[in-house]
Amino acid sequence: MDRQNIFSELEMGLEETLEQLLEIDTKSLASGIEESAFPKGVATPFVKWVGGKRSIMDALKAHLPEGFNDYYEPFIGGGALFFELHRKLQKAYLSDTNFDLVMAYRVVQRSPEDLVELLREHARKHSQEYYYKMRDRHHLQNPAEIAARLLYLNKTCYNGLWRVNSKGEFNVPIGRYKNPGIVQEENILACCQALQSVDIRLTTFDEIKPTEDDFVYFDPPYHPMAGASFTRYAKLDFNEQDQVRLRDFALKLHKQGVKVMLSNSDTPFIRNLYGSKFFQIATVQALRLVNCKANKRSAVNEVLITNYCE
Ligand SMILES: C[S@@+](CC[C@H](N)C(=O)[O-])C[C@H]1O[C@@H](n2cnc3c(N)ncnc32)[C@H](O)[C@@H]1O
Repeated sequence: MDRQNIFSELEMGLEETLEQLLEIDTKSLASGIEESAFPKGVATPFVKWVGGKRSIMDALKAHLPEGFNDYYEPFIGGGALFFELHRKLQKAYLSDTNFDLVMAYRVVQRSPEDLVELLREHARKHSQEYYYKMRDRHHLQNPAEIAARLLYLNKTCYNGLWRVNSKGEFNVPIGRYKNPGIVQEENILACCQALQSVDIRLTTFDEIKPTEDDFVYFDPPYHPMAGASFTRYAKLDFNEQDQVRLRDFALKLHKQGVKVMLSNSDTPFIRNLYGSKFFQIATVQALRLVNCKANKRSAVNEVLITNYCE
């Protein structure tokens, strides 16, 4: 199967393909994997993702709604907020448009042992030459191999970036890590447990179907602050029209009684977009990589937008 065609077919076609690739028996999910089979580790994001939310986690938690039914995170990325909250959630729906990433979530959920075995092999073979050999394997078909490649490249590439070229192919150079921590078995098993009854899908953000009193956290690719910014997580860029679509979707959910929280960069465009009486805008400070060469992080303002008062 040509994964380039898969990308251009997006929406339903991709979701079905993903199901086929994984040969999923959704009924068996209900029985899941015995909780007692795994150590009681604390689950933290198993991938480093651009725009990770660790530095604003306290602010995110302070702005959560007081109570809600189901949890939706339709730009899941590293899933920092989901992993922080998962023990308290009654039902969670996670989604993203990055094929390899969604595949990785599903493999962590369903066959973590296969993944760990493959990661051990990557760790054993890791070298500069091996990294570039794996980087060129854009057309793997086996779910566990696709997931293991993503995790291996994510742990060893420059700054943990997942950037793709116009063909949707990962193109980040190798990073300089002495000990990149490729396997992380305990965390993968803890994440597997955290994901047991979670619905994981390959869909665009506006395909989710929350209902009244559900809570949706939107963490889209950010609107660029000045000049070029990193928005190419999957093959499709997220442009200003998409930001408008997202605001319209948030408004639609608001009218349905859904609780919505959204992160974005603090730009006049975003403030203007959410400037209506339906939304509150709070300013939060995040630590972001500003100088790639020096690997320096500094505080930048972001906005946290809600349609409720906490
Ligand atoms: C800012 S990242 C999410 C960061 C994440 N919440 C975290 O804590 O690490 C944005 C994510 O949106 C995904 N994405 C881009 N366009 C999308 C779309 N139209 N619908 C859903 N997800 C999309 C990207 O693949 C990426 O994983």
